[in-house]
Amino acid sequence: MVKLPPFLPNLDQVLKELVTAGVDAIAAMDSIGPVMTIDIETGRPHMGSPDGSGYLSGKYILPVTLKYIYEITRFVNLPVVGVGGVTDYRGALQMIMAGATGVGMVSAPMLRGFEIFNQTAAALRAYLEKRGCKAISELKGLTHKRAADRQPLFGVKAGIDPDLCNSCGLCLRVCYALAIEEEEKTYRVLIERCVSCGLCESVCPVEAVFFS
Ligand SMILES: Cc1cc2nc3c(=O)[nH]c(=O)nc-3n(C[C@H](O)[C@H](O)[C@H](O)COP(=O)(O)O)c2cc1C
Ligand code: SF4
Ligand code: SF4
Repeated sequence: MVKLPPFLPNLDQVLKELVTAGVDAIAAMDSIGPVMTIDIETGRPHMGSPDGSGYLSGKYILPVTLKYIYEITRFVNLPVVGVGGVTDYRGALQMIMAGATGVGMVSAPMLRGFEIFNQTAAALRAYLEKRGCKAISELKGLTHKRAADRQPLFGVKAGIDPDLCNSCGLCLRVCYALAIEEEEKTYRVLIERCVSCGLCESVCPVEAVFFS
């Protein structure tokens, strides 16, 4: 099993060569960095290495790892062990849905103790039972199928389904193109201003935003 660093610019080429070399599996990914955080009272860097910098692991890197696994499993049909940002069963499930076959955790057990493995496994079992899944492999790569259902965003404009909208106003707040306005207890998109960025869809809590 070969472990990959994040942000490989020539990912497809590297994966091709790994397949040719006969690897059995891929682990993705290593920590992100170098990074630094700073104590605002003293100006000193926080981290404990000789120069005060370090590498970023744990929950903040989960979205990066998920996209990475998604891309890797688009290119190759090897088992991928997702590692990078998982702190509970939700992160583990997202890894599986992105295409991972297995999931690893490093920072979370270091910070919270090894019991987190049993807790995560128990929570996964409960989730699968609730969802009526016999095995977690049933969810492997689900996001690839869901993403294929999505329309490409470019060239289409946002719209809001008034029957679903709960008038929370989040879409209006995030729309930097000022393309959303409040209208009689619901919200509507000014098509001519919409730049199809998708932010409103990302924040809408009830999936009232659509693109057409
Ligand atoms: C303290 C520490 C030391 C690490 N040392 C290594 C290492 O020697 N080799 C390696 O491939 N990854 C190393 N990693 C990276 C982890 O294996 C893992 O890829 C990364 O932390 C992301 O997973 P996580 O978010 O679950 O922590 C280290 C991580 C931490 C936190
Ligand atoms: S897609 Fe972007 S520009 Fe268009 S309405 Fe939504 S937030 Fe505004
Ligand atoms: S974010 Fe969704 S629910 Fe909230 S106002 Fe906008 S469309 Fe309605």
